Amino acid sequence: CGIVGYIGQNEVQDVLLKGLEKLEYRGYDSAGIATFNDQGVHVTKVKGRIATLRDEVEASTEGTMGIGHTRWATHGAPSKVNAHPHQSTSKRFTIVHNGVIENYEDVQKEYIPDVQLQSETDTEIIVQLLEKLVEEQQDVEAAFRKAISLFKGSYAVAVMDAQNPDTIFVAKNKSPLLVGLGDDFNVVSSDSLAMLHVTNEFVELEDKEVVLVERNSVQIKKLDGTKVERDSFTAEIDESDIEKGTYPHFMLKEIDEQPFVIRRIIQEYQDENDNIKLDPEVREAMKDHDRVYIIACGTSYHAGLVGKQFIEKLAQVPVEVHVASEFSYNMPLLSEKPLFIFISQSGETADSRAVLVEIKQKGYKALTITNVPGSTLSREADYTLHLHAGPEIAVASTKAYTAQMAVLAILAVDTAQAKGLQLEFNPLSELGIAANAMEALTDQKEQLEDIARTYLSTTRNCFFIGRSIDYYVGLEGALKLKEISYIQAEGFAGGELKHGTIALIEEGTPVMALATQENVNYSIRGNVKEVAARGANPCVISMKGLDQESDAFVIPHVHELLTPLVSVVPYQLISYYAALHRDCDVDKPRNLAKSVTVE
Ligand code: G6P
Repeated sequence: CGIVGYIGQNEVQDVLLKGLEKLEYRGYDSAGIATFNDQGVHVTKVKGRIATLRDEVEASTEGTMGIGHTRWATHGAPSKVNAHPHQSTSKRFTIVHNGVIENYEDVQKEYIPDVQLQSETDTEIIVQLLEKLVEEQQDVEAAFRKAISLFKGSYAVAVMDAQNPDTIFVAKNKSPLLVGLGDDFNVVSSDSLAMLHVTNEFVELEDKEVVLVERNSVQIKKLDGTKVERDSFTAEIDESDIEKGTYPHFMLKEIDEQPFVIRRIIQEYQDENDNIKLDPEVREAMKDHDRVYIIACGTSYHAGLVGKQFIEKLAQVPVEVHVASEFSYNMPLLSEKPLFIFISQSGETADSRAVLVEIKQKGYKALTITNVPGSTLSREADYTLHLHAGPEIAVASTKAYTAQMAVLAILAVDTAQAKGLQLEFNPLSELGIAANAMEALTDQKEQLEDIARTYLSTTRNCFFIGRSIDYYVGLEGALKLKEISYIQAEGFAGGELKHGTIALIEEGTPVMALATQENVNYSIRGNVKEVAARGANPCVISMKGLDQESDAFVIPHVHELLTPLVSVVPYQLISYYAALHRDCDVDKPRNLAKSVTVE
C-alpha cells in the first residue's frame, strides 16, 4: 500500500490523486482520500484504481489538508468498506495506513472491547484507540504517541483530526515514509517519486518516530516526546524518468532501457584506467567472509541464482541463495564468517527486511544491492551497491533484473581480483558487448510478437526449460509470463521434466527452451525432442554459434556467463505481447504489487 498527505494553502485533491497515481505500484485494489475544509472532513473511497477514485471525488470536498491511500489488501478483502481512509466512531479522527498491525486484536480486547469496528482491517483500531485516549486525556499529540507505542508491527500512518485543521499526525515503523518540504505547504508520502510534482526536498523518518506536519513546520519526535533534528535532502530524480513518454506501457519502456542501464552501470563502476571501481569496504567484506548468503524475493531471487554462479565461478567464494520469506524458518547452519547480500529492486520488501533485522541482531554484516539507495534495506545494511537502473514502474521487473545481474558480475570479478585470482574475463567490456546484443533484440519486437502469437495466444499453460544458467533464466521467463498474462507457466531444469512434470505435456503444449551454453546444448536439445515426441510445441531460443535451423529465435553471441542478461530479453518481450494479446493490464497485473511492504 502507499500513503500520501498534504497540508497547505492550495487545493489538495489533485496533489493527493497525482501522488497516489505514482504510488499505484505499491497496490491498486482500492483507494481513497480524505480532505478537510470548513465543512469538515470528507472521505471518498472506491474499490478499484485511482482513475475511478478521481471520477468519484467531488469538487465540493476540495480543501487545504488531506490524506490518501492506495491499497494492496492484507486484512479484509478489497472493498469500499475496507478501503482507507478509516474513521473513528465519532468521525473525529481519520487515518491512512501502510503496513500490518500485528497485535490489533489484543489491543482492542484490552483497551476498547466495546467499540464496534466498521471494517475488517487492522488499521481502524488505531483511530478508535486514539479517540478513546483523547477522551481520557485531551492532549491529542500525547494520545497519538501513546496509541502508537502500543502497536506492534509495521506502519506508516497519517492521521487528521477534524478539530484541528493545522496538523497531520504521522508515525512510522518498518514501512517507508518521507516528509516533503514545500513553500507554505508540506507533504508526506511513502516515497519521493509520488511527490516530485510539488517538491524535491525531503526529510527521512526513522522507525518509531512521530511527526507533526503543519503548513509551515515539521516537528519530528520520538515516542517519548523528545525532539529529533534532521536535515533534509534533495531527491535527484527527474520527473521525466517516471513518465511513459510515447510508450504504451512502462514495461515496454523499461525493457527498451536495458542496454542504456547496462552502459550506465559500466560507467558508474569503471575508473579512469578502465578498471573496476567499487567501494573498497565492499571489496574487503567480500574478501574477508568465507561464505555469501544471498537473500531476495521474486525476480530479485532469480537474479541471485545467477549471481551465485558468477561469485562461485569467478571469485571462488561459496554462495547460498535463499527466498527471504523462508529463511527464518529454515535458517541454514551458517559458516564462521557469513556475509549477507540482500538483492532488492525497491529496497523495501518486508520479507527481506525481516531477515536483515534478524541477522543484524546476530551481529552479521550485510550488503544491499538495490535500485533505491536511500531505501530501508540500503540504510540498514552495512554496505550498498546501487543498480543505477532509474525508477522501475511496471510491476513486472525487467531492467532491475538485468542490472542486478550486471552488478553481481562486477562484484564477482572485483572479489576475484581482491583475492589475487587471475581471470580472463573482463566484465566491463563483456557487459558492453551484452548491452549491444540487448539493443539488437529490442529492435526485433515484431518477430517476438509473432512468437507470442504463435505459441501463446490460446494456451492455458506453458513450460520453460533450460540447463545450467539457462535454467535460472527459464524460472524468470516463467515468472514474467504468469505475472502479466496469467498463463500458468513453470520453469524446470531440462533434466527434471521427465521425473514427473512431463505428464502434463499434451498435444500443442508450448515448451520454451533456452540453448545458450555449449556444454549443455546437446542435452537440452535432447529434452526438447522428448517433449516434442509427446506432442509439445517447442520454441527454442538459442545463441548464435549454437543455433539450429528449427530454432524459433537466435540471440547474438555474448560471453557464456553473461547470456542471462541477453536471453531474458526475448522472454520479457514474448510475455509482454502475450499479455497484450489477452488484453491484460500489463503494468498493473491483478493481485500484485511492485513493492510488497508486508511480510
Ligand atoms: C514483488 C514484485 C516482484 C518483485 C518482488 C521483490 O513481489 O511483484 O516483481 O520481484 O516483489 O521485490 P524487490 O523490490 O525486493 O526486488
